[in-house]
Amino acid sequence: MHRIVFATNNQGKMREVRQLFPPEIEVLSLSDIGCLEELPETGATLAENSLQKARYIFDKYGCPCFADDTGLEVDALGGRPGVYSARYAGSHAHPADNIAKLLYELKGEHHRKARFRTVITVVGLTNANQFQPSCDIFEGEVSGVIAESTSGEAGFGYDPVFIPTGENRTFSELTPEEKNRISHRGKAVRKLTGWLNDLISPGASAQQPG
Ligand code: IMP
Repeated sequence: MHRIVFATNNQGKMREVRQLFPPEIEVLSLSDIGCLEELPETGATLAENSLQKARYIFDKYGCPCFADDTGLEVDALGGRPGVYSARYAGSHAHPADNIAKLLYELKGEHHRKARFRTVITVVGLTNANQFQPSCDIFEGEVSGVIAESTSGEAGFGYDPVFIPTGENRTFSELTPEEKNRISHRGKAVRKLTGWLNDLISPGASAQQPG
C-alpha cells in the first residue's frame, strides 16, 4: 500500500479527493499524522500557497504530501476574491459570511460569470526519471455563474451559490460524483492520480486503450 498525505483540514475537500484515488494509494489526513496546527498560507498566488502548505508538511513530518489551494474568481469583481477566497469576509470567516458578502457585492449585477481554479502541489516524491525529491503541480478550473441566492445542502464553501456552466443546479445540489466529474478539484486530482499511477507502475497508463 502506498501512502500520501493530503495537507488540508477541510473535511469536504478530503471526501472529494479520497473518492478519486485508486484503492492502492491511501490518502492520510493531517490528523492521521498528528498534525493539528494551522498551516501557513501567506503566498500571493494559489501556486505559492499550495507549495507552502505541502512543503511545510514534508519538511516537518518527512512524508510525501500534496496540498491544494483554490480561488473563486468573479469577473464583475475584477477576479476577486481569488487567492483570498477563504478570508473574503475576514480572517477565519465562516463560509456563510463569505457567501453573504459575495451576494451583497453582486447585488443588481447581471454579469455574474466566475470560475474556480485549483492548484495542487506535490512535494517529496521521487521523480520517475531523476532520483531526487520533486515538486510537481497540477491545475484544474471550472467556469460558471454566481447564483442570486443559495440553493442546496451538499458540498462546502461557495458551493451553494456556484452554478457550473451547462447546469442549472448549484454545486451544492449536485451529487458528490457529479461535482467531482466537472469540478476544478476533480480535474486537478485526476491529473495528480494519473501522474502517481505512472510513478507506481511506469508505462501502465501508456498501455491502456484510449
Ligand atoms: P482553500 O483552498 O482551502 O484556501 O479555499 C479557499 C476558499 O475557497 C475557502 O473559502 C473554501 O471554502 C473555498 N473553496 C475551495 N474549494 C471549494 C469548492 O470546491 N467549492 C466551494 N468552495 C470552495
